[in-house]
Amino acid sequence: MCGIIGYVGQRQAAPILLNGLRKLEYRGYDSSGIGVIDSKRGSIIVRKMPGKIAKLAALIERQPVGAARIGISHTRWATHGVPNKVNAHPHWDQSKKILVVHNGIIENYESIKKFLQSEGVRFISETDTEVVAQLIGFYYRGDFVSAVQKALVRLQGTFALGILCQDATETLITARIGSPLIIGVGEGEYFIASDVPAILEETRHIIYLKDGEMAVMKPDGIEVMTFKGKPLAPKVDTVKFNVDAVKKQGFPHYMLKEIHEQPSVLETMIKSRIKGNRVELEGVSLTDHQLKKLRNIVIVACGTAYHAGMIGRYLIERVAGLPVSVDAASEFRYRDPILNSQTLVVAISQSGETADTLAAVREAHKKGARVISICNVVGSSLARESDGVLYTHAGPEIGVASTKAYVAQITMLYFLALKLGSFTGKVPLAERKRIISALKHMPRLYEDILRHKTAIAKIAKKNSHFGCFLFLGRNINYPSALEGALKLKEISYIPAEGYAAGEMKHGPIALIDEYRAVVCMAPQSETYDKMISNMQEIRARKGKIIAIATEGDLSIRKHAHHVIYVPKTHHLLTPLAVALPFQLFAYYVAVQLGCDVDQPRNLAKSVTVE
Ligand code: F6R
Repeated sequence: MCGIIGYVGQRQAAPILLNGLRKLEYRGYDSSGIGVIDSKRGSIIVRKMPGKIAKLAALIERQPVGAARIGISHTRWATHGVPNKVNAHPHWDQSKKILVVHNGIIENYESIKKFLQSEGVRFISETDTEVVAQLIGFYYRGDFVSAVQKALVRLQGTFALGILCQDATETLITARIGSPLIIGVGEGEYFIASDVPAILEETRHIIYLKDGEMAVMKPDGIEVMTFKGKPLAPKVDTVKFNVDAVKKQGFPHYMLKEIHEQPSVLETMIKSRIKGNRVELEGVSLTDHQLKKLRNIVIVACGTAYHAGMIGRYLIERVAGLPVSVDAASEFRYRDPILNSQTLVVAISQSGETADTLAAVREAHKKGARVISICNVVGSSLARESDGVLYTHAGPEIGVASTKAYVAQITMLYFLALKLGSFTGKVPLAERKRIISALKHMPRLYEDILRHKTAIAKIAKKNSHFGCFLFLGRNINYPSALEGALKLKEISYIPAEGYAAGEMKHGPIALIDEYRAVVCMAPQSETYDKMISNMQEIRARKGKIIAIATEGDLSIRKHAHHVIYVPKTHHLLTPLAVALPFQLFAYYVAVQLGCDVDQPRNLAKSVTVE
């Protein structure tokens, strides 16, 4: 979703802003813009463009913005108004003195707009953001900071803002509630950004601004305060981050690179969390005594993380015997969930900034439940708002389609299930040891599948012409079917539905004919025979079948047109085994169709609005 970069210091701002915007491209956007203050001329210069950042860079090449040392810039993911030049950020107030970039949604923008219009203010865009610029402009009487503060206390919704004033040629102001924003601290310079990787080349010293805080930055210093002006002492963290981790490292796409990183993500997680046959849940913040007293678990998450959560339900119920419910975070608070102090809410999110997941966590806290999160981004809003955090430490995920984060989330759920299971004794120690031993073998299993990826590429190529796909799975691999379908549709735009195989006869079978393909999750498991029956029913209706099956299962070839084999593993670990092939399958189909794999249309990496 929208991305913000801002700079104030001694260097030329425009190249820093453009470079930062390129690093935010992965978040998803449909227009971009940049605004700087040319202190020599005493004027603000703005350049905006619909489409890719390359177009904005070309425009700036043709119409340079000069050597300004302060500026703000933005990638916009359209919410209010189509993606065009007028709606692109930054936005001015009508005096053209105040300039604003914004990430989030101003929920009361219509009432503020009406008020400003009644005061004679004229608007030119359809955006909620223009209201912020106009409101600050309305209050501006020569004191920039005070005008911003007066405006901030009137805004409702979520926002991260970067604000400039033509008369304050060395002052960059930022403020946030609910939307991500960090401050980078350099030598005589400051940066604002929507995420850490965007400014890593510039600095590793970061201030994580909290909700309801604002900062006033000048080359010679920073003041952090509440919206009402109460001074706060900023805490500067130094991030440990491998800059190479955000590069493609020779891979044609981030998605493929991240798929290849999965064996080492698994290896690292397993080494740090499993000691012998014991699972360590450092970060969970609950004592063993508190964990033992839990009566039920509620998992909340969105998209791919939600699918990981669905697998978690099977795991925790099977291994720990605790009742688990899983909610799409966007639905959670609207169903008035029943929670209490013996409920553990587990929020799963790669970015830790997903607005719906954060809203679900707030609802859970309101109802007295404890919240732990399974999160990838260190220091994210979710991590800060949870009582405990189990970091997946999978490294930055840049490809919009989540791959390694999904595998890491499931892996963490195995750890959680095993830990809880060690208290409840639902399955005998010997069985828990078998699961742990299979987990330890998983990195090798992944390497093995990756060695044979060209076979998957060939199958993908042969089937990329199908106009519709069905993904079927049963039991613990029902969520795998949902995730397989999501991966394919989001990067190839081919309609793909995931279904519990047992539900096929209750509707989706009507889709089957020689023009549709069905991907069946068919590893060896207790529901294997039932899956074979489904495959026969599909074949009888001329559907094309691609099966993901266990190595050595030769008889499945009678039923499937193509088979992708995965090495044998414990049946509870098959969701990990099938994930890699369906990720690769989706990837190669999308590449074959010439799609923009890393930045699929309309999608955003971090969904920071509800
Ligand atoms: C799909 C995908 C999304 C995210 C979802 C939640 O590939 O990436 O469905 O899983 O937007 O994002 P996080 O995990 O950041 O909360």
